[in-house]
Amino acid sequence: MNETMTYNDKVVRQFAVMTVVWGIVGMLVGVFIAAQLWLPQLNFDIPWLTYSRLRPLHTNAVIFAFGGSGLIGTSLYVVQRTCHVRLFAGGLANFVFWGWQAVIVAAAITLPLGITQSKEYAELEWPIDVLITLVWVAYGIVFFGTIAKRRVSHIYVANWFYAAFILTIALLHIFNNLAIPAGWWKSYPVYSGAVDAMVQWWYGHNAVAFFLTAGFLAMMYYFVPKQAEGPVYSYRLSIVHFWALISIYMWAGPHHLHYTALPDWLQSLGMVFSLILLAPSWGGMINGIMTLSGSWHKLRTDPVLKFMIVALSFYGMSTFEGPMMSIKTVNALSHYTDWTIGHVHSGALGWVGLITIGSLYCMIPRLMGEKKMFSVKAVEIHFWVSTIGIVLYIASMWIAGVMQGLMWRAFNDDGTLTYTFIESLAATKPYYVVRLLGGILYLSGMFIMAWNTWKTMTAKAVPEFRAAAPAYWGDAA
Ligand code: HEM
Ligand code: HEM
Repeated sequence: MNETMTYNDKVVRQFAVMTVVWGIVGMLVGVFIAAQLWLPQLNFDIPWLTYSRLRPLHTNAVIFAFGGSGLIGTSLYVVQRTCHVRLFAGGLANFVFWGWQAVIVAAAITLPLGITQSKEYAELEWPIDVLITLVWVAYGIVFFGTIAKRRVSHIYVANWFYAAFILTIALLHIFNNLAIPAGWWKSYPVYSGAVDAMVQWWYGHNAVAFFLTAGFLAMMYYFVPKQAEGPVYSYRLSIVHFWALISIYMWAGPHHLHYTALPDWLQSLGMVFSLILLAPSWGGMINGIMTLSGSWHKLRTDPVLKFMIVALSFYGMSTFEGPMMSIKTVNALSHYTDWTIGHVHSGALGWVGLITIGSLYCMIPRLMGEKKMFSVKAVEIHFWVSTIGIVLYIASMWIAGVMQGLMWRAFNDDGTLTYTFIESLAATKPYYVVRLLGGILYLSGMFIMAWNTWKTMTAKAVPEFRAAAPAYWGDAA
């Protein structure tokens, strides 16, 4: 056994920095398209600035660039610390970093040019899909290779969630992108009609489940106990949580296709599994929140814990709201409206955003041999600015969404529609302004984070950490 083995933190630091950078870029585009919904002339009649091209740029940037960099970076940090070994295949880890950045840059060029497969969250054309596959396989080798050479027999639960994220995303990516190329930047999916729609939303929903949920639950299981300086509330519950969540999520996709050409029984199946999903989701949330039992007082002084607890609250809220929206009669009201956008961002800004930010605020100083960021005050300000931003964003979208749904289904006695579509748009406009304000606040928080990260990372020389050496193979983590 090599007692002086050190951790490979370079790649972790690179991913941590790029998470903040891509967070700013993706949210800037989000703010811009939010402004366009209020003032459409902001596209200046330039094709690559049109809403239809920038919207997928926003979703790809926030999910895959911001979320993806955060997930890969933290997973490579966590797997080393919990396995007590240096990362497997360091050279391959470098390829994962640079390859992933290349995918992001390729997306940022092709999407504004209008090059797209037109599948939501899977817009990128086949050459980029091939690159994603290569990077993902390399990532899998680095992660599972590290698990394989671990010096403790136990595999900590966070690694289970990261592993599920890596394996399932590989599966989803490959099957949803099976296509016949017709030139370098054009391809046709092998599926057609209702089958294509079903595969797409099996992918889309499980991208939510495994990209936007499972990986971030891994962050929760490592960084919440770390920051609270105590063990996870119930390890047994975490295992039940894991198996229940991954086996139920897989079946819920059809709730995205209610009242479509998909067979009715399949829609109902999606609805039923979505309702059942409430239980494991809340089990996980409770496990995270209760990890603070005995240290609630720390919430008064530690803004990093505030980020984590509020993230978990939003996780609970969006996983309550989701099952409700999957009920067919509720979906008849919510679908096509801004209610969906409110739901998405309560999960995205509230859960995904805040747990990533909280975990980075926990990890970045530790990468530098410190326990706190350069300015704790700045973390506190970031917390309040982003929380107020989320509330403005989702409250305005909820109100706008329910209003739109009700206006569209209002009939006069003679059977004609009470409101024209344009009337519902005009009524929505003030809410778009409030959403824009919320977005600007959330984005300003990211600038504060960038400054604080810069200060923390440049304050002193980068230390090297020795891998914790267990007395013998088989020690508990
Ligand atoms: C400053 C922060 C943000 C702003 C201002 C913003 C704004 C927007 C806007 C205006 C849309 C289009 C809504 C529509 O078509 O009606 C949108 C869509 C979306 N955003 Fe964001 N966003 C932000 C952050 C995020 C983050 C951090 C994530 C994910 C981690 C995210 C994920 C999404 C997704 C998945 C959609 C597509 C929703 C759907 O198709 O139903 N956003 N965002
Ligand atoms: C138990 C958990 C959840 C269930 C059952 C659920 C259910 C739903 C339902 C029914 C819709 C509306 C589909 C439609 O009318 O088109 C939806 C949309 C969406 N949800 Fe959730 N949700 C859950 C949790 C989450 C979480 C935690 C996130 C984000 C982090 C999230 C992200 C999204 C996104 C991005 C969409 C929009 C998809 C699109 O049309 O582009 N969901 N969800």
